[in-house]
Amino acid sequence: MYKNIQIIKTEDGSHTLFVPELGEHYHSIHGAVQESMHIFIDAGFRYFNNNFDKIDILEIGFGTGLNALLTFIESEKNNQEINYTTVEAFPLEEEIYHKINYPGLFQDKNLSSIFLKIHKAGWNKFQNIGENFKLNKIHQKIEDVILPKNEFDLVYYDAFSPDVQPSLWTEKMFAKIARSMKQNGILTTYSAKGIVKRALKASGFRTENIPGPPGKREITRAIRK
Ligand SMILES: C[S@@+](CC[C@H](N)C(=O)[O-])C[C@H]1O[C@@H](n2cnc3c(N)ncnc32)[C@H](O)[C@@H]1O
Repeated sequence: MYKNIQIIKTEDGSHTLFVPELGEHYHSIHGAVQESMHIFIDAGFRYFNNNFDKIDILEIGFGTGLNALLTFIESEKNNQEINYTTVEAFPLEEEIYHKINYPGLFQDKNLSSIFLKIHKAGWNKFQNIGENFKLNKIHQKIEDVILPKNEFDLVYYDAFSPDVQPSLWTEKMFAKIARSMKQNGILTTYSAKGIVKRALKASGFRTENIPGPPGKREITRAIRK
């Protein structure tokens, strides 16, 4: 559990969190929702999604639940079955997630209860959030999680940055993620650092640089060979 987490409003009006002991934000201060939409929904979910009936997603770093909420919204539009597995070592206190403003930023009034359902879902088992959206939150460090083989179509890699968590951006870590993915599965992440792309390539991915959201020149999409 991080100490003294602060809630910050980013430039698009959506909240993010700041962790003083790491000097890191959970999202871009230029816009949290804007960033997550760009990297994980547009470059990941929508890019991958060619009307598949069922998609298995793995997220590293559940955090505020923003990526889960945005993916839920997408899945409702397309009436698709989503199995969403997310790994989180340090879950947020209830007091924090109750104050986060994401559900109110969308027109749908049901999203407040969906957002709370996502946060209150029990750990380490699949739970129905909506008719088509099943969520499995794993309360563990990614280093310690045993992942299934050839399971995931899509990975949202959203750990803290390589500057503060270098061990989460190594060839060894990405090889573990690659083994859990299907062939031609897609991983997206906000980092476009050379060491990240080299580690991805060395662990069985082909990488593409794609334009980033405001405030970030490039991000990375990796395709599992
Ligand atoms: C950049 S933030 C995640 C942002 C999140 N996807 C969101 O939309 O709020 C990184 C997250 O990774 C979690 N984390 C840090 N170290 C971890 C580890 N070793 N294994 C799993 N999760 C970790 C943090 O607690 C934090 O929630």
